[in-house]
Amino acid sequence: MNDLGNNREQWGSRLGFILAAMGSAVGLGNIWRFSYVTGENGGAAFLLVYILCILLIGIPILMAEFTIGRRAQSDAVGAFEKLAPGKPWVAAGYMGVASAFIILSFYAVVAGWAVYYFVQYVLGNLSAPPEDGYAGFFVGFISNSTQPLFWQFLFMVLTVGIVFVGVKKGIEKANKILMPLLAILVIILAVYSLSLDGASEGVAFLFSPDWSKLLDPEVYLAALGQAFFSLSLGMGALITYGSYLKKEHKLPGAAVGVAGLDTIFAIIAGLMIFPAVFAFGVAPDEGAGLAFIILPEIFGDMALGQLYGILFFFLLSAAALSSAVSLLEVAVAFFIRKFDWSRKKASIIIGGIIFLLGIPASLGNGVWSHISFFGQPDIIDSMDFIASKIFLPLGGMIIALFIGWGWKKADALEHSDFGDTTLGNLWLFVLKFVAPVLIVIVFVAGLL
Ligand code: TRP
Repeated sequence: MNDLGNNREQWGSRLGFILAAMGSAVGLGNIWRFSYVTGENGGAAFLLVYILCILLIGIPILMAEFTIGRRAQSDAVGAFEKLAPGKPWVAAGYMGVASAFIILSFYAVVAGWAVYYFVQYVLGNLSAPPEDGYAGFFVGFISNSTQPLFWQFLFMVLTVGIVFVGVKKGIEKANKILMPLLAILVIILAVYSLSLDGASEGVAFLFSPDWSKLLDPEVYLAALGQAFFSLSLGMGALITYGSYLKKEHKLPGAAVGVAGLDTIFAIIAGLMIFPAVFAFGVAPDEGAGLAFIILPEIFGDMALGQLYGILFFFLLSAAALSSAVSLLEVAVAFFIRKFDWSRKKASIIIGGIIFLLGIPASLGNGVWSHISFFGQPDIIDSMDFIASKIFLPLGGMIIALFIGWGWKKADALEHSDFGDTTLGNLWLFVLKFVAPVLIVIVFVAGLL
C-alpha cells in the first residue's frame, strides 16, 4: 500500500506545506552556521557569493525537489525508483538518506546547546557574565563529556516525538506561531545590535566586500555548502515534503517564498550578530561558537536581557526542531516504505541510531578533540564538511541533471506548474547547464 502512495500523509493545505518547508529551511543554519561561516570567510564578499548561489543554484534546485516529490508521491529514494526505474539517478536518493543521518547527528548536538542555553536563561545562570566570560562558559560546557549529551538526547527525543505522530499533525501548527515570533525577535535584536557603539564596523563587514576574498576558491565552496544547508537542499528533504502535497497546489511561488524567507532570515541574523561582534571586540572568525558567545553578550547588555535570552533560545530551539524533523523524516519515510516498518518503529530506531552517531560529534569538542577527518578541525566540522560541502551539492547536481536531462521537457514544464513559459524554459536551462556547471567548477576549484 505504501508503495502506491495510497496510505501516505498529506498536508492539510498549501500554506501548511509552505510553512513546513520554511520550518525545515529556517533553523540553526540561519543563525549559528550562517554567522560563523560568514565570519570565517570574510563577510561581505562571502555574502555576495552566497546570494548568487541561492539565486542561480538554490531556487532552481528547490523547485526541482518540489516537482519530483509531488510528481512521485514517494520518499527521496522511492521517488527516483518510481520515476526512473533501474536508472542510476537513485544514487542521489541514497546519498540523501545518508546525509540525513550525518547532518542530524551533529545538528542535534548543536541544537542541544541551544536548549541548554534556554534552560540556563530560565534559571538565571546567565543573567550576569559568568566568571570566565561568555566564551569561557561556552567552551567549558561543550567540552564537558556528559552534560551536552543529555541535551542532545533530549532534543532527539523531541524530534522523534514529532516525527512519531506524523509530520502533518506534528509540525503544521507549531510553525505558524513560533517562526513569526522568532522573526520578530531577531529583528528587535538586530535593531539593538545596530545601536551599539562600533556597530558600523559590523555593518561594513557584512556589506562592503573585500574583493580580494573572491580570489580564494574555498569561499565559493563554503558559500555553496551554506546555501544547500540553509535551504535544506540536495538530500531529498524537500522531495519528501513535496510528496505530501496534493497535485492541485502550485509550486513556483512556494519555492521562491521559502528561499526568500530563509535568506532574509540569515541576513537579519547577520545584522544581529556582526555589529555586536565588533562592538564587544570578539573576532568574527571565532568559529562555531560565535553565535553562542555573542548573543549572551547582547543580552547581558540589554535591559530585560534575561527575558530576551529565554525567548530567543526557546525560539531558536523550536526552529531547530522543525528543521530536525525534516531531516529525520527523510530517513523515516524511506524505511517505512522500504522495510514496511510502522512510523513509530522507524522514528524510534532511526532516532536512536542518530543519537548514537552524534555522541562522537559531541565528544569531539572535548575528550576526542584530537580526532578529525578531511583536514577539518574537529568531528562536527568533519561531518559537516562531508555532508554540506560534498553530498548536498552533489545530490543537488544529480537532481538538477535528472530533471534537465532525464525528463521530457514537456513533463518537466507541466509537473513544475511553470508550463511552457519563458520562466519555465529558463528554469530548465539552469537545471541542464548553469547549476551543474557551476557546481562542478566550485568543486574542482575548492577541493583540489
Ligand atoms: N536548513 C536547516 C537549517 O538551516 C537544516 C536542515 C534541515 C537541512 N533539513 C535539511 C540541511 C536538509 C540540509 C538538508 O538549520
